[in-house]
Amino acid sequence: MTFADIHCHALYNVDDGASTPEMMEQMLDAEYAEGVRYLCFTPHYHPGYYGYNEIRAEEAFARAVAYCEKYPDMQLMLANELHYSPECLTWVKNKTCRRLGKKRCVLVDFRENEEANEIVKGLSRLINAGYVPILAHAERYLKLDLSVLTVLKQDGILIQVNSGSCFGDFGFHARGMSKKLLSQKLVDFVSTDAHNLKNRPPQFQKCYQYIAKKYGTEYADHICRDHAVNRFFEKKGS
Ligand SMILES: [Fe+2]
Repeated sequence: MTFADIHCHALYNVDDGASTPEMMEQMLDAEYAEGVRYLCFTPHYHPGYYGYNEIRAEEAFARAVAYCEKYPDMQLMLANELHYSPECLTWVKNKTCRRLGKKRCVLVDFRENEEANEIVKGLSRLINAGYVPILAHAERYLKLDLSVLTVLKQDGILIQVNSGSCFGDFGFHARGMSKKLLSQKLVDFVSTDAHNLKNRPPQFQKCYQYIAKKYGTEYADHICRDHAVNRFFEKKGS
C-alpha cells in the first residue's frame, strides 16, 4: 500500500521540523520507507514564531526535489500550515502563505486550547472568503467536541487527522477524538505531521492497518491516499 502525506515538517531550517539538510533527507527516506509516494511539505506559516520563511522554504524544497530524484515514483509538493490569526487572510490572498494544491484549499491550525467559538469564527472567515480550510489535526483541539466538528464539516471544512493520534501519541483527548471522527467517517485525510525521526517520525503503516481493520479498506485507502491524490496530485499508478 502507498500513501499520501499532506502534512509534514521535513523541510529544513523553516520551522520546528528538520533542522539540517541531512535530517530532511533522512526524513524523506523514512517517508519513502513507510510507503509515502505523495508528499506535501507544510512548513508552519506563523511569522511571529518562525519569521517570513517563504524563501528558506523554496531553497529547502529545491534540495528535497533534487534528493528525491532517486525516488522517481515519489511526488513532492510545497504548501504551508497556516497558523490562524486575524491578519492571515492577507497572507493567503497574496500567496505569501501557500495553499495546498491548485484549488483554494488551505491547511490551517489553531492553538490547541483555543476556544471553540474562536476556531469556528476563524474557519468561517476563511470559508466566507472563498477558501476551503483543511483543519490540521482536528482531533487535538481540547475545546472542540464532535458536534461542533460535525457542523464545521457540513459547513465545508475538510478534516485532517494525525496518524499517531489513534495510538495516543498526542494524548488521551486526541486518541478519543480521532476514533470518534473515524467511526463517524468524518475524516478526509490522515497525515503524519512528522517533525523529526525521534519522537515525531513519519509513520503511516501502523495507522493504515488499524483503520483498515476497524473501518474497512475502502475508507482506509480513501483517507490515507486516494482523496489527497485526487484533490492535490497528478495521478500515477499506485
Ligand atoms: Fe503541523
